[in-house]
Amino acid sequence: MKVGILTGGGDCPGLNAVIRAIVRKGVPTYGHEFIGFRDGWRGPLENVTMPLDIQSVRGILTRGGTILGSSRTNPFKEEDGLARIQKNLAALGVDALIAIGGEDTLGVAKKLAELGVQIVGVPKTIDNDLNATDYTFGFDTAVNIATEAIDRLHTTAESHHRALVVEVMGRHAGWIALHSGLAGGASVILIPEIPFSIAKVCEYVESRFRTNYAPIIVVSEGAIPQEGDMVVKDQSLDAFGHVRLSGIGEWVAQQIEIRTGKEARTSVLGHIQRGGTPTAFDRVLATRLGLHAITAVHEGDWGKMVSLQGTQIVRVGLAEATANLKLVDPQRYAEAEVFFG
Ligand code: F6P
Repeated sequence: MKVGILTGGGDCPGLNAVIRAIVRKGVPTYGHEFIGFRDGWRGPLENVTMPLDIQSVRGILTRGGTILGSSRTNPFKEEDGLARIQKNLAALGVDALIAIGGEDTLGVAKKLAELGVQIVGVPKTIDNDLNATDYTFGFDTAVNIATEAIDRLHTTAESHHRALVVEVMGRHAGWIALHSGLAGGASVILIPEIPFSIAKVCEYVESRFRTNYAPIIVVSEGAIPQEGDMVVKDQSLDAFGHVRLSGIGEWVAQQIEIRTGKEARTSVLGHIQRGGTPTAFDRVLATRLGLHAITAVHEGDWGKMVSLQGTQIVRVGLAEATANLKLVDPQRYAEAEVFFG
């Protein structure tokens, strides 16, 4: 069988580990042949490919990013986008496709599966917001990077008696903020799922200063103040219609200064959370997902996404996997609230 592989959406640590596992099992165990599609859906849409064999995946296990490149190209936005993909796959003699991506990339995969394309999905995103999988690879790495940043900010905040706000990624899910804030001992964690009161945040800040500690406020880029609208730097949308987030951290710091008179600063971690080598957890998860994805292809189990449930890798329908986002539930947030203030 000739199998195409693509990586779509925002990159994340572990993508190369998936590609490596697929090829390292697919060639010797099943005798499959591989072709890489460049830059997400742009590859099959515009016929941009690269060779993919055992030699080309040597040494990439620990490398962040993706050797295939990635993009947020949306075939739904192109005239005859899906039909062009089908035509190009047929012309290249590609029998099956493995799409590694988040909700947007897998949403396209789901549609192609409905049209009869032989496709299997692999979930990835640092945001950990994909339903039907307990964790996505990339998340653990992002949390570790954010936690290390929070650890470092504690000492400088204390030296200067400042409130330090850390803005982390996650889009509309607060997983990175919740986990890094818990691990880093944040004074308060703000997540998109639960609109926050800036007055309450300032109370926590003041109480932390009263105990001679400097507060660290971890804010998810999609967090929303009860007193206003979502704060965003600009209104531009990506090809899948998502607004570019960031700006809330700066807003929170300004409000803290105005309302408490204490000095406050913001660190926006941004793409640092997505770059560099994956943690051991993400390398193992990505490798296992890759191994199971190529087995699903070999068995012709089309329209499925491989997923982590407990400690097992199982298969779920792409429709189920992309139906809803996985958000932080209030009980998980309540656990963290014990440590606020
Ligand atoms: O979905 C992953 C993610 O890193 C989000 O956390 C973030 O909002 C978005 O991608 C940023 O996208 P871009 O790199 O296209 O600006």
